Amino acid sequence: MMPEKLKTELQSRVAHAVTSREAAVDVMKELQRHYGWFTDEAVGEAAELLGLTELQVEELATFYEMIYRRPVGKRVIHVCDSISCWAVGGETMLAHVGRRLGVEPGETTGDGIFTLLPCCCLGNCGEGPTMMVGDTLYGRLTADSIDEILARERGGIT
Ligand code: FES
Repeated sequence: MMPEKLKTELQSRVAHAVTSREAAVDVMKELQRHYGWFTDEAVGEAAELLGLTELQVEELATFYEMIYRRPVGKRVIHVCDSISCWAVGGETMLAHVGRRLGVEPGETTGDGIFTLLPCCCLGNCGEGPTMMVGDTLYGRLTADSIDEILARERGGIT
């Protein structure tokens, strides 16, 4: 169950939005932050906050690839697999991250720290290959920079 403080804050955000749907991504992301992923309970709570049906929330949640309807690790790694990144080695970088973590795309490491997911364009096309770890964007990836990023990200997890 979401804490009362979070509920009040989200009610306020919905009240200030032009339409409740405008606040939907914010609401889903905050509930996801609270639960670790966008649980069934969160779907129900979002529906109530937004004045939508659970099915409508489900449709929105499954549209956005950064809303997770299954458990994920503490940090989700999105590696861009759209055309600009693909053209400069994105596929090779995705494979490198997978090898380093010992997971396939879609899987979570055994220690529950990282989940690896390919994704559509992250809006950093000129700096590809690109990946996002949690909320941090990394561009111009190389095998060496990925190793450094993973070590730093792992070290920063509490
Ligand atoms: S194609 Fe990768 S960030 Fe746009």
